[in-house]
Amino acid sequence: MMEREELKRLAGYRAAEYVADGTVVGLGTGSTTAYAIEALGARVREGLRIRGIPTSVASERLARESGIPLTSLEECPKIDLTIDGADEVDRQGNLIKGRGGAIFREKVVALASRHYIIVVDDGKLVDRLGVAAPLPVEVVPFAWHPCQQAIVRMGGLVEIRRSNGGPFVTDNGNYVLDCRFWPLPEPSQLGQRLKGIVGVVEHGLFLDLDPIVLVAGRQGVVERAPCFGGHGRLRP
Ligand code: A5P
Repeated sequence: MMEREELKRLAGYRAAEYVADGTVVGLGTGSTTAYAIEALGARVREGLRIRGIPTSVASERLARESGIPLTSLEECPKIDLTIDGADEVDRQGNLIKGRGGAIFREKVVALASRHYIIVVDDGKLVDRLGVAAPLPVEVVPFAWHPCQQAIVRMGGLVEIRRSNGGPFVTDNGNYVLDCRFWPLPEPSQLGQRLKGIVGVVEHGLFLDLDPIVLVAGRQGVVERAPCFGGHGRLRP
């Protein structure tokens, strides 16, 4: 059986093939997207002209090391194509994201993108969101405890994410609450309720974005958009 890391590499490298010359590319965050950034860097060295908008400090660093010129949402408010990873993908192409803590910037970039490619290994496909991955919620540090209590009242089990002996801090200086529900309530309603809590910056439910999902598995990389009922908005 192929190693998970090899599947991530296959998916990331394939996504880089979708990028056309002269475009603005959203650069997601995480170990699968890192392979796409690496492959894009190789294409840039061969002459591909693109500008990237990274979704995290880590992706920005990787993009710079890979020689990808960068731009910003001020300069380029509309992104042609974004490549990002996910923690779970359901049959409609709805996602849970944010294991890497880049929830907020990833959502801003996703919403600014004309086309959206998600790269995953087949272990991320689920029938129902929330079965395996916790739902990350980015919160303002001052309000993390009231936010936690509000989500507990909604039926969630909530843990503040930790790192190096303290709370994990996002690139925006915020904390992350990892939330579990049994089962996850209807996602769009849950998303609205979470956004209604004062102190919540963003949550990891990425819904109705109609992504092309590149799934790496034993049979190679499969493009799943048509199966999800998506529009297949983009072809290489
Ligand atoms: C980053 O905040 C996340 O949304 C990642 O894109 C997601 O966790 C997938 O990461 P991996 O590709 O490392 O599994």
